[in-house]
Amino acid sequence: PSIPHKLVVANWKMHGNLARNQVLIKEYLQALNPLAQTKVVVCVPYPYLAQIQILLANTGVAWGAQNLAKFEQGAHTGEVSAEMLKDFGAQYVIIGHSERSTAYCESDENIAEKFMMAKRHGLTPILCVGETLLEREAGVMTRVVGKQLETIIRLFGAGAFAESIVSYEPIWAIGTGLAASAEQAVAMHQFIRDTVAAADSAAASTLKILYGGSVNPQNAVQLLNQKEIDGALVGRCSLDAEQFIKICQAVP
Ligand code: G3P
Repeated sequence: PSIPHKLVVANWKMHGNLARNQVLIKEYLQALNPLAQTKVVVCVPYPYLAQIQILLANTGVAWGAQNLAKFEQGAHTGEVSAEMLKDFGAQYVIIGHSERSTAYCESDENIAEKFMMAKRHGLTPILCVGETLLEREAGVMTRVVGKQLETIIRLFGAGAFAESIVSYEPIWAIGTGLAASAEQAVAMHQFIRDTVAAADSAAASTLKILYGGSVNPQNAVQLLNQKEIDGALVGRCSLDAEQFIKICQAVP
């Protein structure tokens, strides 16, 4: 599936309920229609996929999940498979979000397996990469992000990045209100694209690289106007329709 020029992805994290979701999606759709050129994706907690599938059917807004099992199916209590996500029309899936990799000790290898599971089932993976504040202050952020990318390249080849999405999410910017500057984001996006291109230039040319981490209507304008930034992965501000719409409107 070809990925649109720029996209804005809502990561609701563990927020929402049936009534709230209905209101939020309705508010999104009331303002989004004139923004057809901006691709919007809503990534929801697993239980709400059925509801979101109904609410977003035929609206042009896509939906997805925030994780998936690295197994096809079977005796994996509590896990949710790629095929189950497809059963509810999901097209995208966030992989390796730092809130998961830290809380559930997800290794780079484990995340690479999930990335490929998504690809094998026709889901577009949104691979989250990023460094901690300590790693940024120590100047080793490219080593950290490079290792996350190299794990997939080593295990599955750089071709896996074709038609995929990487979201640069500096951990120190997530939920802090302190977004990376456009310069910091552009430098890392360029590094990500160069790292993939060094192994497979064709794959790098169809890879989309989003920025995530305290994106809001104010900083979205500068961030989304950078040619190296293909869109945004939005947490907190995606739970407020007015702010989320303003971020979508910041796409040039
Ligand atoms: O996946 C995006 C998320 O981690 C960013 O969260 O609240 O800083 O926009 P937030």
